Amino acid sequence: MFKWFGSYLTSLFASMIIYRLCFHPLKNFPGPKLAAVTKFWHVYRSRNSTNYLVMEEIHKQYGNLVRTGPNEISIFHPNGHELLDGANNENNRDVWYDILHPRKSIIFIRNVEDHDERRSTWSYAVSSKATKEYAPRLHSLVKDLSDCIASYNSHPVKVNDIMSWFSFDAMGHVTFGEDFGMIQSKTIQPVLIKQRRALGMMAPVNDAIWLARFAFQYLPFLHTVRDWLDTAIFCEERIQLRLRSKTKTMDMSTFFIREFDDLSQQRGLKFATDILHGNAISAMVAGSDTTRATLISVWYFLSKYPEHQHKLLSELATVNDGDVSGLSRLLHLNAFINEALRLVPPAMTGESRIMGPKGLWVDDIWVPGGVKVTAPKYVLHRLSSAFKYPDDFIPERWYSRPDLVMDKRAFGPFGVGARQCIGKSISLLETRLVLAILLKRFRVRFDPSYDPTTLLRDLQDEVTAQPGELWCIFEPRKDVS
Ligand code: HEM
Repeated sequence: MFKWFGSYLTSLFASMIIYRLCFHPLKNFPGPKLAAVTKFWHVYRSRNSTNYLVMEEIHKQYGNLVRTGPNEISIFHPNGHELLDGANNENNRDVWYDILHPRKSIIFIRNVEDHDERRSTWSYAVSSKATKEYAPRLHSLVKDLSDCIASYNSHPVKVNDIMSWFSFDAMGHVTFGEDFGMIQSKTIQPVLIKQRRALGMMAPVNDAIWLARFAFQYLPFLHTVRDWLDTAIFCEERIQLRLRSKTKTMDMSTFFIREFDDLSQQRGLKFATDILHGNAISAMVAGSDTTRATLISVWYFLSKYPEHQHKLLSELATVNDGDVSGLSRLLHLNAFINEALRLVPPAMTGESRIMGPKGLWVDDIWVPGGVKVTAPKYVLHRLSSAFKYPDDFIPERWYSRPDLVMDKRAFGPFGVGARQCIGKSISLLETRLVLAILLKRFRVRFDPSYDPTTLLRDLQDEVTAQPGELWCIFEPRKDVS
C-alpha cells in the first residue's frame, strides 16, 4: 500500500517538476531554477523577513523580468505599477487577498465589481469633507505627542515606540472616534504587539499564502495564529462598541455603519457583518502600520541630514501648523516625505496580481494571461534607470532638481489606479502635522550611542516595512516661538 502511494506521489511530483521546467509557458523567462519548481524557494529565501533584499538581488542577477515562482513573474521596470494597476487593466488581485475570509473589505476582496462597490463607502469616509472633521483631532493628538516627547527632557527617545503609539492612537480616533491612550500612558496596547508578531509570521509565507490559510483553519492554537485572530477580534470589538454608541461625532465608522445598515437590509446580517468587520481590520492594519513606518523614517533622515531641518523650518515659518491645506502646498516638506517614502516604502513588496486573459507586454516581451505578477516597490524606487543617485536621499529631486528623476512612473508608494491607497490623504496629513509641530518645537539628532546604520540594516519586510531601531534626542528649540 505505502509502496503504491509512494510511487504515485513520486510520479506526481516528478511530472510537475518536468512540466514546470520544460513545458510551462514561462519556461524561457530567466530566474532561479528552484523558484520555477516550487514557491518553497521563496518561503525559504524570505524566512528572515527580507524579501525586499531577495527581490533586489534577483533583479541584479536576472534583469527586469524574473520568474520568481512556477507561475509567477516579478517585474522590475519603471512602468511596473502601471502594468499591474494602471488604466484599463484586466488584472485581479491574487489569492493573498482572501486572507481575512470570511470577512471582506475594500482591500481584502478580489472581484473587481465587489471591490468598486466597497470602495465607494471608503471614498466618503476619507473625502476632503470628512478629513476636515478629523484634522483638528489629529492636530490635538500631535500636540499630545509633542508634550510626550518633551517629557523625556532631552533624554534618548526610542522613535519606533512613540511613533507606534501615535499612529495607533491616530487610527483609533479616525476610525472609531476612540482614544486608545497610548501616547498618554506611554505604554503599548497588547494588541499592537500581537499585530506586529502576526505580521512578522506572515512575512515568510506571504508568497505561499495557502500555508497561512491552512494554519488559520486547522491550527488556531498556534501562538502566531492566535496573535492574528486576536488582532482581528480586537478590531471587531471596537467596531461593535462603536455600533452601539450613540455618538454624533464623525469618524470613518460613521460611514461603515451606514453601509452596514443598508447591507443588512439588502443582503442579510451575516454579509453586512463580514464587511463591517473587514473594514475595521483594514483601517487599523492598513492605516496604522504603514504611517508608522513613514513617521519613523522621516526622523531618521532628519537626524542623518540635519540641513533639512533648517530648510523645513524656514518653509514652515510661512504657515500656521494647523493650516492643513497650507502645509500640503509646502514644496520641501512634501518632497522630503516623498523621498522618505521612496527609500523606505511602507509597502515594500507584495501587491500581487493575476494577469487578465490578454496578458501584457513589457517592452517587447510578452507575459501570458493567468500569470501572477508583482512589481516590488523597494526595487522600483531604486532603479538606476528611473532615478539618478538612486540610493541617495535628495528631496530636491521632487521639485527643484527634476533632472534627478528620469522616470517618475517608478515612484508609487501608494500604488496607482482603482486599487491605489485610499487612505493616502489621511496618512500624508498625519505626517505633515507631525513634522510641522515637532520640528518647530525640537531640534533632533541621533542619540550619540546609536549606530546610524541600524535602521536600514535591520529593516524588515513584514507585509509593511518594519524599520530597525531608531534612538534620537529631541532638544527644545530656543530659536522658534
Ligand atoms: C504611508 C502610508 C501608507 C502607504 C504607503 C499605503 C500604501 C498602500 C498601498 C500600496 C495600497 C495598495 C495595496 C494593495 O493593493 O495590495 C494601499 C491600499 C489601501 N490603503 Fe493604504 N497606505 C498608507 C496609509 C493608509 C491609511 C492611513 C489608510 C486608512 C486610513 C489606508 C487604507 C488603505 C486601504 C483601505 C487600501 C485598499 C484600497 C483599495 O483596495 O481600493 N492606507 N495602501
